[in-house]
Amino acid sequence: MVLIAPSILSADFSCLKDEIKALTAAKADWIHLDVMDGHFVENITFGPMVVKSIRPYTKLPFDVHLMVENPLKMIPWFAQVGADIITVHAETCKHLDRAIELVKSYGLKAGVSLNPSTPEMVLEYVLNKLDLVLVMSVNPGFGGQSFIPSTIEKIAKIKSMIKNTLIEVDGGINPLRASECISAGADVLVAGSAVFANGNYEKNIEALR
Ligand code: DX5
Ligand code: ZN
Repeated sequence: MVLIAPSILSADFSCLKDEIKALTAAKADWIHLDVMDGHFVENITFGPMVVKSIRPYTKLPFDVHLMVENPLKMIPWFAQVGADIITVHAETCKHLDRAIELVKSYGLKAGVSLNPSTPEMVLEYVLNKLDLVLVMSVNPGFGGQSFIPSTIEKIAKIKSMIKNTLIEVDGGINPLRASECISAGADVLVAGSAVFANGNYEKNIEALR
């Protein structure tokens, strides 16, 4: 059964507490938190203070996606405010192995994300340490972009490389793309626009499964 991780990037930021409660009631599996620093990606979202402030309103795992230039500095910040999974981008890590070990040192699940243009081979020597690979199906930075079709081939390639690691896919997921990703081997789907469209979160989440 595929897990659905709604991204609060598409939520109403003026009432994040209510949005978190609504996603929980709508049977989301994880809450996906897109952290953007205006350097690795153009956009800026939120930091650990916001994550801390919403942490009391759900028991769902917090899936923190760090789109930041300096993840080694920020991993401890998010570990200390209730992250359950922390994913770093391979493109931002001069020392990827060290970043993964740092996440794990807090007892958290560690993920590595790949931009659409980054080949899966960069994972080869860290794969046995990883809980999750986050395959970006859009160029990171913004919600509401179109799914890049070559992602499907990449999911299948990564699936053939792993044993117990989850594959999560992020960007441009709608019900059609969801079924393609699941067939290729995806275990977790991130969705922003598709979950928040028209306000019926439960129906939207169900449509992606
Ligand atoms: C993009 C983010 C995604 C984004 C997904 O940089 O990592 O999580 O919010 O949004 P949609 O589903 O609208 O593409
Ligand atoms: Zn994301």
